[in-house]
Amino acid sequence: MLRIGYYQFRPIFGETQKNLSRIVKALSAAEADLIVLPELPFSGYYFRDRAEVKALAEDPEKSTTVATLWSLCRERDFYLVTGFAEKQRDKYFNSALLIGPEGVVHTYRKLHLFNEEKHWFDPGDTPLEVNSVRGMNLGIMVCFDWVFPEVTRSLAVLGADIICHPSNLVLSYCQQTMLSRCLENAIYAVTANRFGVDKRPHGELRFTGKSQIVAPKGILLHRAPSQRRELFISEIDITQARNKQMTPLNHLFEDRRPEYYHSLQGK
Ligand code: ACM
Repeated sequence: MLRIGYYQFRPIFGETQKNLSRIVKALSAAEADLIVLPELPFSGYYFRDRAEVKALAEDPEKSTTVATLWSLCRERDFYLVTGFAEKQRDKYFNSALLIGPEGVVHTYRKLHLFNEEKHWFDPGDTPLEVNSVRGMNLGIMVCFDWVFPEVTRSLAVLGADIICHPSNLVLSYCQQTMLSRCLENAIYAVTANRFGVDKRPHGELRFTGKSQIVAPKGILLHRAPSQRRELFISEIDITQARNKQMTPLNHLFEDRRPEYYHSLQGK
């Protein structure tokens, strides 16, 4: 049995050190194999402009935030998937990092930017990929990627057992939709959302909480309250994500008829 979970909390905009300390404290006794954190949990979300991103983003290789998370992973012997405002030379990405006792395993850069994020971030330029750690095949997507079923399908076809989904959701549709994404691909998904409000001089954004873990049959294993902190860890049987047989005669991947589908490459 593997233990996977999430930490839902309320980051304070611009308070990287405080947000990091809270996360470290909350996870300091956690017994888990994998914990997913929300999108942008250190910087906060509602930037005014690109200049604010520049001030708060970090290069993972030089980041004290990443160094702290890495030592937490070594101490607790678990893997983290966390949102991260990533600086890479003159580019700024809304990224997610997979970090384990051995260090940063993978960096994913959000492909589908949501609304005003298009003013602040560069669009992701990393292909979707699956990383295998501790017997888990992990696929990563970030928040609004959920609305493109191509993302979960691609990750599932690449072999993902679990979709790790750092989020800062402001609309109300994702949690329900992820039940279908898990059913049609026979995968687990951990959506780690934040709650609270980013109240800024240019406006405010309210986040919906309700982080959740969904199992391969589209079964909701657990959903957090809307506006409360929660560390939740569940035991899962990963073999359930390796059986793509929906009926004795229906295989979720092999039964596809791509020769009759419109090409998804290009417009
Ligand atoms: C979102 O992608 N943060 C809604």
